[in-house]
Amino acid sequence: MEVLIKKDSGQLARAGAEICRTAALEAVQKKGRFTLVLSGGSTPRPMHRLLAREPHLGEIPWDKTHIFWVDERCLEPNDPESNYGQAEEDFLIKIPLPQNHIHPMPATLPPEQGARFYQKTITDFFDIKKGQFPVFDLIYLGLGTDGHTASLFPGQTVLNEKRRLIVPVKGGRPDVNRLTMTLPLINRAKQKVFLVSGSDKARAVKRVVQDRLQEMPAGRVRPEKGKLSWLLDQEAAALLEKPF
Ligand code: 6PG
Repeated sequence: MEVLIKKDSGQLARAGAEICRTAALEAVQKKGRFTLVLSGGSTPRPMHRLLAREPHLGEIPWDKTHIFWVDERCLEPNDPESNYGQAEEDFLIKIPLPQNHIHPMPATLPPEQGARFYQKTITDFFDIKKGQFPVFDLIYLGLGTDGHTASLFPGQTVLNEKRRLIVPVKGGRPDVNRLTMTLPLINRAKQKVFLVSGSDKARAVKRVVQDRLQEMPAGRVRPEKGKLSWLLDQEAAALLEKPF
């Protein structure tokens, strides 16, 4: 597990965008495509905006990139709380990404139906058989003050899901129906990067990164295969004591 501490949220966004560029070039060079998974919330938005500007706009092979989401609120895409809607506004409409390379979660279907639909979207895309788990190249994750990540909230039974890739849940802020990737799917990604900013997250960061509390959903994201990085600004890292 790698912990990288940046001076402020601006440097955090730049470091996050650089990780995306590096991962994209490596994946396309090796496999001819790059599968990227986005989180919602406010933290990744400055990074998303950077991806639509040089050098990332011109250097990331967008024509070979596919974008998925780690979770989504079950709202209309034009709802200000829609993860897809925010990403579309921040960068999707500004990059040369083929429309069929954008794979939003079906947020307007009934949640259980939406979960099954998106699970099939993923299994078809990766052409995998039942019981197998695909390997995404890069997943960005956020951290809630309660230690949640994606839409995996403390105490929920979905934390123990072993089979399904995508499940419906309800909770969070806003407290709405959501679709979320499960831990087995998240954990198989080649690279998982937590992007965490702000003093309000410092306690959760300490409990997950330093204390390794398993009741914190984010603490269940492990580098089973691949790499796990915590990209923090100084405020979010304020309570960490080395070594962690
Ligand atoms: C969501 C996000 C969620 C987010 C954290 C942190 O859809 O709610 O995926 O997991 O990453 O809640 O949110 P902020 O970045 O807004 O603090």
